[in-house]
Amino acid sequence: MSRWNSTQLKANGPAILPSILQCDFTNLEREVQRLEAADAIALHLDVMDGSFVPNITYGMPIVEAFRKLTDLPLDVHLMIEKPARYIRQFYEAGADLICIHQEATGSETRAVLEQIKALGASTGVAINPDTPTDAIEEYLDIVDLVLIMSVNAGFGGQKFNPSALDKIKRIREQAPSHVLIEVDGGVNAETINPCTEAGADLLVVGSAIFGEEDYANAMSQLNQLAEITSDGLL
Ligand code: DX5
Ligand code: ZN
Repeated sequence: MSRWNSTQLKANGPAILPSILQCDFTNLEREVQRLEAADAIALHLDVMDGSFVPNITYGMPIVEAFRKLTDLPLDVHLMIEKPARYIRQFYEAGADLICIHQEATGSETRAVLEQIKALGASTGVAINPDTPTDAIEEYLDIVDLVLIMSVNAGFGGQKFNPSALDKIKRIREQAPSHVLIEVDGGVNAETINPCTEAGADLLVVGSAIFGEEDYANAMSQLNQLAEITSDGLL
């Protein structure tokens, strides 16, 4: 039974998912404890292969390590070519939601999403800033989550691309209400509120948490900013 519960995630309003790319890899146990103490409700894990994106991060062993360290849902963002080869392994390593890039799977996107679903994991499809939302609209019936990248996938610490905001709005209009919209890249104190105003449910945050001494403080400040509505009420 998956730990990922879209209904619960949605009911609690916009949520911040720490992207552990910039965490202290010399002490994952301590990092997990700090994130749990900061009330993180899920963790975002970035897998890069040096081919789909010009950077290499980590693979199944780190997903497995996080699985042993926490019961929080693991949102695994695959930035890899031909992800179908590895879906089962990431699932067995402990991924609760597996998100693939439409640019990596092309005409096989539906088949790969079906593969993820058949295993019992939740499904996500991601698009980079240059990919229009049209490229994924046909999958809105099968996905649990749409990931709108607000930077080109590949590195933490990049600048937020505001083109993501219109894409979030467009998907919000088109997707069934249970589909979660996640935004990833350059989300910080300046950019978080426009994202939630546009309709994002999940905000992936790397630098704006891990660049701070106090993760709990960083997350609670971002949370407050995320929840301000256009009429100024929390
Ligand atoms: C970038 C990754 C992100 C990254 C976000 O390709 O998908 O999850 O870690 O980091 P920041 O918040 O620093 O942009
Ligand atoms: Zn990511």
